[in-house]
Amino acid sequence: MSRTVAVVGGGVIGLAVAWRAARSGWAATVYDPRVGSGASWVAGGMLAPLSEGWPGEDDVLAVGAASLDRWPEFGTELERATGETLFTSQSSMTVALDAADASDLRTVAEWLDGRGYRLDLLTRAQIREAEPSLAPTVRLALLAAAEFAVDNRALVRGLRSAGEAAGVRFVAETVADVEALPADQVVIAAGTASTRLWPGLPVRPVKGEVLRLRHRPGVAPAPTRTIRASVHGRPVYLVPRGDGLVVGATQHESGDDTAVTVAGVRDLITDAQTLMPSIGEYELYETAAGLRPMSPDNLPILGRVSERVVVATGHGRNGILLTPLSADAVVAALSGTDLPEAAASRPDRFRHTSADAAVHANADAPVRK
Ligand code: GLY
Repeated sequence: MSRTVAVVGGGVIGLAVAWRAARSGWAATVYDPRVGSGASWVAGGMLAPLSEGWPGEDDVLAVGAASLDRWPEFGTELERATGETLFTSQSSMTVALDAADASDLRTVAEWLDGRGYRLDLLTRAQIREAEPSLAPTVRLALLAAAEFAVDNRALVRGLRSAGEAAGVRFVAETVADVEALPADQVVIAAGTASTRLWPGLPVRPVKGEVLRLRHRPGVAPAPTRTIRASVHGRPVYLVPRGDGLVVGATQHESGDDTAVTVAGVRDLITDAQTLMPSIGEYELYETAAGLRPMSPDNLPILGRVSERVVVATGHGRNGILLTPLSADAVVAALSGTDLPEAAASRPDRFRHTSADAAVHANADAPVRK
């Protein structure tokens, strides 16, 4: 008889864990009152561990790159199994609008080069040829040829249907107590709610607001790559979709608030238009906000916390990127082994899993651009 596992949380992490666990012989059940309705549904879907890297964050780079390596096989298998189209762009470009941004791009390129990742710096003329819709004020770009993007909503649908085909059961209930779950093993993959189920996990919510834009006839086409930049010190990105773009994302530490604010939408539109002047002609058809489950050191928290419980949370801005690696790490933990590529994500790296530890570790975290 197969062993049973209860997966709490039906976002992309919980769904991928359940699918992969079921394929490894576990009888898996996902508990979530509204599968796929949280941060997974709001996400942009860019997979950018290299171009979002920053000197000093070597473990974040290594874990992200290990998951990016798994994505082509993971995504292709899911596409074949479900008929969903996941991949929406093949590469990403981080662009500089001023001298300070250009200097940051050179710093990142040099740091990556020292770690075996060769990314190209593109001149103004090369940028205009590659992405004519970008503003002429874009002066330098870092091209990451292997950083593609996926449609997060197709991913949610695909993981759910692949799970169902593999025998995963779904229970539309909120779990209040993991002790009460009728299963041999429990996986907590509940994003920011994970701390309610396992108090002391150092995860905090960071709200992100996102826009969805549709291309209209006669308007200049959107970029074909993911475009990232910093405008007035605010990060902004444009992620291609079949019918247009996802524009993201704000970052606010405001508890469990998921309201979309006027200021958030205004900033995203202003910053996106600085990058791509024709964006004002697009249809704005959706605004949404999600809560990123942020850890103190920007690494996920993956692994065993008791004889019966494994956690998979703390994915911060990188839940979609880290989905394949997280599923492999959790399935390894369920069978009593460790995935070496996920070693830096072990829960026991925090001195004590208390709110105090989160505050202290956060104070030590590297300062990002
Ligand atoms: N995945 C990018 C963000 O959270 O903004």
